[in-house]
Amino acid sequence: MLTESPREQWGSKLGFILAAAGSAIGLGNIWKFPYIAGENGGSSFIIIYLICIAVIGLPVLVGEILLGRTTQRNPVGAFKALNGSKFWAGVGGMGVVAGFLILSFYAVIAGWSIGYIYQSISGDFFQYADPAKAADHFVALTKDVVWIVSYFALFMIITMSVVYAGVQKGIERGSKIMMPLLLLLLIFVMIRGITLPGSGEGLKFIFNPDWSHVNGQTILIALGHAFFTLSMGMGAMLTYGSYMSKKDSVLSSAIQIVILDTFIALIAGVAIFTSVFAVGLDASGGPGLIFHTLPAVFTIMPGGQIIGTIFFILLTIAALTSAISLLEVITAYFIDEKGWSRHKAVIVFGTVTFIIGLPSALSFNVLADFNIFGKNFFDLVDYLASNILLPLGGLFIAIFIAYVWKFDKALIALKDGSEKIFNKNPLIITLWQIFIKYFAPVLIFLVLLSSIGVL
Ligand code: TRP
Repeated sequence: MLTESPREQWGSKLGFILAAAGSAIGLGNIWKFPYIAGENGGSSFIIIYLICIAVIGLPVLVGEILLGRTTQRNPVGAFKALNGSKFWAGVGGMGVVAGFLILSFYAVIAGWSIGYIYQSISGDFFQYADPAKAADHFVALTKDVVWIVSYFALFMIITMSVVYAGVQKGIERGSKIMMPLLLLLLIFVMIRGITLPGSGEGLKFIFNPDWSHVNGQTILIALGHAFFTLSMGMGAMLTYGSYMSKKDSVLSSAIQIVILDTFIALIAGVAIFTSVFAVGLDASGGPGLIFHTLPAVFTIMPGGQIIGTIFFILLTIAALTSAISLLEVITAYFIDEKGWSRHKAVIVFGTVTFIIGLPSALSFNVLADFNIFGKNFFDLVDYLASNILLPLGGLFIAIFIAYVWKFDKALIALKDGSEKIFNKNPLIITLWQIFIKYFAPVLIFLVLLSSIGVL
């Protein structure tokens, strides 16, 4: 059953690019990228990561956006429109489920970020110059069921209100305000970091190549992260692409999204490591870097309270524009396929996501001892979604475009809006063909094998 009312569209190409960049730029860029770059050989990792982004990330991103723009549908509807088999509709369905799962734990971490805005304003964490103490403080907060669940709920409510307001009035308008603000705040924090005495060590840490760290595993980590950071493999970019006009170029939009995403990850790395080194703390904080090490950094550094507050505001904005895209996938599915109203879909599935996310939030307290396959609920959902469903989705998208929909047909669709680029650089066509037909399926398959421990 399809709705009769005209489907929503972006007001402008810029609106689409900012919304999609908002989806891409999130906790992955600001929380994850800096510490995995730090752990895996600094600039040698960054170089490998950039190659992965160019060879796999961009070609698959182009394909995913194109699937949406061509069919003007959600992930399930898009596959159905081009193929019709149950199997491919199921692949789209897997994307919708992955969206649910990712949002359910992503919003828990985003809730901590809101909580830390308050921690910073109230000065609560400024008593912990020692990261071990700051870490204890963090553990105490996350053990508090009321604290963790209320901030999680608050974040979900904010996410739902943006999606509720619609594609143009909610997502696009919100992204146009939040994305420039995010960039501005991050640059501010970076300048503070660079101007601290001793910041040079941080720059060395992130930019000095250390090829001894690089092995097969590093490449797989870089590839896996390329997927997560570009929001690929579960139909978020497909759904955003479905609101795009055929006049606008998929290729140039995708390139701009990738550049923005990479740029923000690099600035975040510089901002964080210059500050950590300048105050003489340990940069190998791993996943705890943001909530354990940074509060200690802000305690020590001059002006730390203001910088800390700004930092957690920008982290929340980054997470919010990503969460919106996750909720939009489910919403679009119920609007397109089941004829629901946007308002009903958002309220029902925002609430359902909150309920599914509760066990993740409780993994840090009451359910801490509840383990499945040696992982608590939070880690399990994260692993299942990020390490299995996303690469699997990406693999299917590449195979679908190259061999089911067929490359030649996809190419005709891609030319809409990109004629000029293709006329000037015909080589792009050959490159896209090689990457999407051969490189992407093979390399993504390897990532998947490594995720399940076979490699
Ligand atoms: N890309 C976001 C980040 O870097 C996370 C994200 C948002 C995402 N939507 C997604 C990841 C869809 C995979 C799929 O934080």
